[in-house]
Order: sequence, then structure tokens, then C-alpha cells
Amino acid sequence: MATITITDNRDGKQYEFDILSPTVGPDVIDIRSLYQKTGMFTYDPGFTSTASCSSSITYIDGEKGELRYRGYDISDLATKRTYLDTCYLLLMDKLPSKTELAAFDMEIRKRSFVHEGLKNLFYAFPDSAHPMAMMSSAVSALSAFHYEHLDIKEEEEFQIMARRILAKIPTLAALSYRRSLGIPFIYPDIERSFTENFLYMMRAYPSAETLIRDVEIKALDTIFTLHAEHEQNASTSTVRGVASTGAHPYAAISAGINALWGRAHGGANESVIAQLEMIGTVDKVDEFIKKAKDPDDDFRLMGFGHRVYKNFDPRAKILKQLLDELKEDLGVDSELLEVAMRIEEVALTDEYFIKRKLYPNIDFYSGLILTALKIPKSLFTIIFVIGRSVGWITQWIELRHDKEMKIARPRQRYTGPVSKKI
Ligand code: CMC
Repeated sequence: MATITITDNRDGKQYEFDILSPTVGPDVIDIRSLYQKTGMFTYDPGFTSTASCSSSITYIDGEKGELRYRGYDISDLATKRTYLDTCYLLLMDKLPSKTELAAFDMEIRKRSFVHEGLKNLFYAFPDSAHPMAMMSSAVSALSAFHYEHLDIKEEEEFQIMARRILAKIPTLAALSYRRSLGIPFIYPDIERSFTENFLYMMRAYPSAETLIRDVEIKALDTIFTLHAEHEQNASTSTVRGVASTGAHPYAAISAGINALWGRAHGGANESVIAQLEMIGTVDKVDEFIKKAKDPDDDFRLMGFGHRVYKNFDPRAKILKQLLDELKEDLGVDSELLEVAMRIEEVALTDEYFIKRKLYPNIDFYSGLILTALKIPKSLFTIIFVIGRSVGWITQWIELRHDKEMKIARPRQRYTGPVSKKI
């Protein structure tokens, strides 16, 4: 076993730690015995250098801009397979055969209905409620309707739970949307595929025909695939943190939805379009780029930068290509697109962005496509939730099988008063 030796230059004492190798990617120093051996903790706010678990689900090479689910390149999955293929791959660790996919697809369709009583929850929200607030509450409330799954232990039960959550999340998303507009709720249509059914539940009106074009299904299905998994990001780490206490999957995923909401994470897609609309015209781009570079201004260019990708975000590359291919068919807003392309052009050649390796991320392009699909801004992060739900569930299951799993309980560097007397 390779080891690393750390020398404490205060007293010259040396401590040895094992180096663990992954199948691919950086080695990790096993510091589990650090406190016991040295009486010290590590200090790593934001976990920039910390591997919190071992995982065999997703691999990212941020320097090269590579992303693989279960070993398969994201670009192959996004262009040659559907979102449901990808879900099966993540959950079952293999791509489905035609028969396996058909059975999986049918199961998801049949499980897409939610308990009638759950609708009452939506009526309790005011019109102004953000769909993400309704969504996280509704997923948490699912636990009250499926209490038999609160204490699951077997793989078979995990898989039923996984299919249930995966199938119901789009229905809950559509209910959140329809409640926010005060329009009648629509039942899932099991004659339709996963992605088509979601668009149907969003758009349909009783007794009227619903137009959903193949190009729209293709674009949204690709967006779901690109969002499906992304290893230990903030929301997934939240799901794992909650799961590590023994909490049931509905609690963990509801917490993940809330973590995703922030604009540094999944909330960025909503902020990108809001920012493009605020900038409005190409001639204003330089002014906002200047603001983004100003250290005394907290304005950030939304849809730029990533903790892991220090090269183009591979998901963004695929979306940009999709945008180029489908912009006319989809009817992408040409003014917003023009502003976005100008921002991209300026930022990619600007010293500030080059030095900090700030490239457009997935959220920079997804909003333009979602707007063309007539999905309102307030629903953008919900789209991320639908795509990512399978990743959260897969990570929850992996954690439950992990023999090295412990309750997530970091320590701290205390900076308060030592002791005070009353
Ligand atoms: N605009 C302007 N400056 C930026 C930006 C930006 N979007 N992002 C980072 N920087 C600067 C930052 O000010 C800092 O500069 P300096 O070194 O001079 O202090 C430097 O780049 C490093 O930034 P950081 O905040 O330390 O980097 P991080 O890894 O902690 O944060 C991030 C990553 C994604 C939160 C950040 O880049 C950001 O806020 N981007 C905008 C929000 C966004 O688009 N989020 C979506 C991420 S992709 C979807 C997902 O997976 O969640």
C-alpha cells in the first residue's frame, strides 16, 4: 500500500497515512485516523479537496471536461439513448435490453399517478408560492402516503422506491406548475412516454387536443439526461448527509431539492434567463461583464464557472450543439440568444474569465431551450429536479449498501470565546 508521511514542523513528529487509488482520477489520502493519531482535524470549507465517499456511479475529469455515468460518456448517452435508458443504467448499473427497457418504461408509466389526497396539499399553497417550495413539500409528503417504505432495507424494496419516486416527480412538478397558475390538474397519460407525458401534464386542458412536437420531446429528454447525475455536488451531498442519519429517501430527496434551489447550484438556470432579460440588448453586454469582474460588486455572470470543470462543461457543449441544431425548429428567442452569444464571446476571450477558467456551464444554455419549450422561468429548477431525481435515488441506494458509511458529522475550527461566566 502506498503511503504519505506528514511532518509536524513544530516538534518534528511524523505521521503516516495510506494512499487509496480509484479506478481513474486522483488518489486520495485516507485520513480517517488523523484525529486519533495527531489530535488535529483537516480544514476544508466547501470541501474543495475532500472526497466524502467512495462511489462507482459517476466520473468527472474537470480538467479535461469529461463526464461519464457508469463508465459511459455523457455525449453518447445524450445523443444515442433516452433519459429512461440512462435512469435504468444508473439504477441497475447496465444499459437495458429492449425488453428490459419496455418493462421499466411501463412500470414508470403505471407508477406516475399520485394519491388523490396529495392534491389537497397543493390547494393549501398561496398563488404566489414558488413551484420549488411546493415540490420539496410534496416529495416530503409522499412519505405519508407510502409509509411502508419508510424503513426499507432490501435491494428489491430500494428499486420499487426508486421507480416510484422517479415516476411521481414529473407529476408533482406538473401539479406545482398548474397550482401556481390556478388551472385544472391533469392526470398522467400512460399512453405517452416519460418526457412527452410531462409536457402533456404541463400543457393539456380538459377536452382539448394537446400539441407536443417530437423536436420538443427530444430537446427536453436530452436536458433530463444531461442533468441525471453529477457525483458529490451540493444537493447530492445533502441527500447523502440526510440519508446517513438513517432518514427515509423521501426526506433525503426533499432536502436535496431545497439544496438545489440556490442560485449557485440548480437555481442558476432561472437566474441566467432573468439576467439575459435584464441585460436585454447586445450593446449592454460589456457593462455587465465589467460588473462581473469588479471585486467590489457581488454581481456574477450566471451560467459561468464551475467548482469541478476548469474546461468547458461537457453538458454545456452538448446543449450548445442542440441549441444550434434546433433553434429554428424550437423557435428560440432570437434576441435573448443574441445577448447570450455575445456574453459567451466576450467572456471566453476576456483575461478575467480565462485566468479563473470560467466557462459557460449547463445552465447557460438550458434556459434558452426551456424558454422555447414555453416553460416559465420559475419552473426551470424543477426541470433540473426531474432530471436529477434518479441521481439522488441512485446515490441514496449506494450509500445504504456502503459498509464504510458513517453518519455525516464534520468537525470545525472553533473561533469563539474559550469560556465565559454568567
Ligand atoms: N462571474 C464572475 N466571477 C466569477 C464567477 C461568475 N459566474 N464564478 C466565479 N467567479 C470568480 C470568483 O469571483 C473568484 O474570483 P477571485 O479568485 O478573484 O476571488 C473565482 O472566480 C473563483 O470563484 P469561486 O466562487 O471561488 O468558485 P467556486 O468553485 O466556489 O464556485 C460556482 C463555483 C459555480 C458557485 C461559481 O462559479 C458561480 O457562482 N457561478 C455562477 C452560478 C452558476 O452558474 N451556477 C451553476 C453551476 S452549474 C450547475 C450545477 O451543477 O449546479
